[in-house]
Amino acid sequence: MLDKVKELIGDVKAFNASTKEEVEIFRIKYLGGKGLLKELFAEFKNVDAQLKKDLGQALNTLRNAAEGKVTELNASLENNQSQKSFYGDLTRPSEPINLGSRHPISLVKNQIIEVFNKVGFTVSEGPEIEDDWHNFTALNLPSHHPARDMQDTFFIEQDPDILLRTHTSSVQVRYMEENQPPIRTISPGRVFRNEDISARAHCIFHQVEGLYIDTDVSFADLKQTLLYFTKEMFGKSKIRLRPSYFPFTEPSAEVDIYWGLETETDYRITKGTGWLEIMGCGMVDPNVLKNANIDPVKYSGYAFGMGIERIAMLLYQIPDIRMFYENDKRFLEQFKSVI
Ligand code: PHE
Repeated sequence: MLDKVKELIGDVKAFNASTKEEVEIFRIKYLGGKGLLKELFAEFKNVDAQLKKDLGQALNTLRNAAEGKVTELNASLENNQSQKSFYGDLTRPSEPINLGSRHPISLVKNQIIEVFNKVGFTVSEGPEIEDDWHNFTALNLPSHHPARDMQDTFFIEQDPDILLRTHTSSVQVRYMEENQPPIRTISPGRVFRNEDISARAHCIFHQVEGLYIDTDVSFADLKQTLLYFTKEMFGKSKIRLRPSYFPFTEPSAEVDIYWGLETETDYRITKGTGWLEIMGCGMVDPNVLKNANIDPVKYSGYAFGMGIERIAMLLYQIPDIRMFYENDKRFLEQFKSVI
């Protein structure tokens, strides 16, 4: 009988279970009312006195081992279960992550960059705090030139030489100073003008300006590039160039696109004409080339500049420029689906 009990101790110690039900079956088998231990202890009464000591000890060991096993297995299964509920069902598809969206200004800027990248323009950037030379003088706007009033300027700390750039043409001057033709570059960036804030104007806004310089560049090249741009950007293929004035280009023009008059909104935004002004452009003035150390006899070029807000307002029918800067989530979330 002693051998049998010893064998059972070995069985109990080796036992393992993966569910609580298995542990319960084990408990009933050993410790239950009609279990093995009950049976063995009953048999124990009839055993010879000299065997009782060893057998008694062995039976106690068996009982303790069985009880210990039940507690241990139950505890570890409980732990497993709480770990399971902590991680949940690991095979379940994950929760959707709430992604942010790009700001409409970035979206439109990237779109413009992409259109010009396709025809060989690179992107160039420059400082927002500029000096007089790059923002004005080099662009054929010497001090006291009346056209400086076209762009009301923020100056910094009463130093008339340091200012917040009023356009990204300043980047083009920097680019020309550092690179010789052929030049094909666009300069996106933030610009500043001391203007009253309204639904149509803001003191901070964004521009993309373009510059193309090479031998034999003509106004026809400019027109073709603009046509390509309006087709890609707006899907409109009718443009009109109106004579205009910029100190840094000669001749200069404003570019209008034919938007159409199909809807009521078309009437409102085009003031009933069907035409919309979208940018300024012209052939780079030889003085500007000279100022940036480019030979105006050998080279010629064109330049253009547009406001990103204006284009975004047209594309997405945004009625008020101030909406771009308010960071209202209800406004920004509407651009989630645009890449
Ligand atoms: N720099 C001009 C502006 O800010 C735009 C422009 C750029 C016009 C290049 C002509 C040529 O209004």
